Amino acid sequence: MLLGILKESAPGETRVALLPENLKSLLAQGIEITVEAGAGLASGASNAAYLEAGATVLADRAHILANADLLPMVNAPNAADQAQLKPGTVVIGFLKPLDSPAALATAIARPATLFSMELVPRISRAQSMDALSSMATVAGYKAIISAADRLPRLFPMLMTAAGTVPPARVFVIGAGVAGLQAIATARRLGAVVEAYDVRAAAGEQVRSLGAKFLDVDLGGIATEGGGGYAAELTEEALDRGRDLITKTAAHCDVIVTTAQVPGRPAPRLIRREAVEAMRPGSVLVDVAAPAGGNCELTQPGVTQNIGGVTLMAPLNLPAEVPGDASHLYARNVLNFIGLILKKGVLSVDLTDEVLAGACVAHEGKPVNPRVAKLLGSAGVSAS
Ligand code: NAI
Repeated sequence: MLLGILKESAPGETRVALLPENLKSLLAQGIEITVEAGAGLASGASNAAYLEAGATVLADRAHILANADLLPMVNAPNAADQAQLKPGTVVIGFLKPLDSPAALATAIARPATLFSMELVPRISRAQSMDALSSMATVAGYKAIISAADRLPRLFPMLMTAAGTVPPARVFVIGAGVAGLQAIATARRLGAVVEAYDVRAAAGEQVRSLGAKFLDVDLGGIATEGGGGYAAELTEEALDRGRDLITKTAAHCDVIVTTAQVPGRPAPRLIRREAVEAMRPGSVLVDVAAPAGGNCELTQPGVTQNIGGVTLMAPLNLPAEVPGDASHLYARNVLNFIGLILKKGVLSVDLTDEVLAGACVAHEGKPVNPRVAKLLGSAGVSAS
């Protein structure tokens, strides 16, 4: 039984699926681990560290792909890699099965068993495998650090002999996992923080971090969907949020926006006029850029200067903090592997609701019903 750790091939990806510190419990089960040379370098894990931890390090990627029975990854394998997978292998990673299911067709046909970390159900038993939350935490932190780095002002209030510097004013939109971490980070740096979310439950969490929660009267409509997530709002309700955002933007130095609705494009909440209302030098970080962005001017992956306002739309914030992002992700993946690897033997039991929820495909067939539906409509064979 061979577990392979590959160097991620997606442009800009710096994370690695498992670090040397994660290998002990796996090796103790008698499995072999082979790491592609350089896989952990950007995350601070040298080839020597993997060797010392008991793994083999190889430059031959094709050999690992052809022989690994278990491939924990960060992103989905690319098409060329998929074509080389050992039939029956188990791949675990952020596979984006709802965004681009057809991109997994070759792996499904090998057949490979695919588990997607985005689909791990957010139930208490699976909390230790919740990689979406881990990565959102890193993204929220890094969004504030990036904004602080760009802002021509300091974050904390300073009283010096040369005069008083007022604190920066930060506005966080969407107070989920990323937003709450952004609030906490901005507060630690000394900023005055306001936040807005459609879920009333977020108000208490925002206030507990020392920030002001901005309430909008949405006329009593349901703002919560299932599982603690937001529901998709009507245009009228969205407009009330947009008005509040435009008004608040005028006195903010920084906006970090994180609003998302699962399985939908990110809601467009920030109008052009809100960006134009911000003072020159202000910074807007659109953390929802990978889902299209919350600002109508956002161009995912592009940093723009709009009348002196910097609009950042990073596509992979966790990859900008690869050491700890990998550290957290690897723990999530290791806990997930614990569900399918028992005493060194792989066994996939799809009656387990966590495995069934996260499983994209098994034995050549789609498993998750949402993925199956999308694969069907994309014309990908499900047999
Ligand atoms: P997310 O990334 O889907 O959304 C981020 C935030 O945007 C959410 O707080 C959402 O309410 C907000 N939002 C959506 N549309 C909006 C709009 N039009 N205007 C303003 N804000 C809007 O969500 P995330 O951060 O992954 O999780 C959100 C919540 O889900 C958590 O705060 C928690 O309550 C729950 N959760 C539960 C977990 C569990 O293990 N049970 C694990 C993780 C999250």
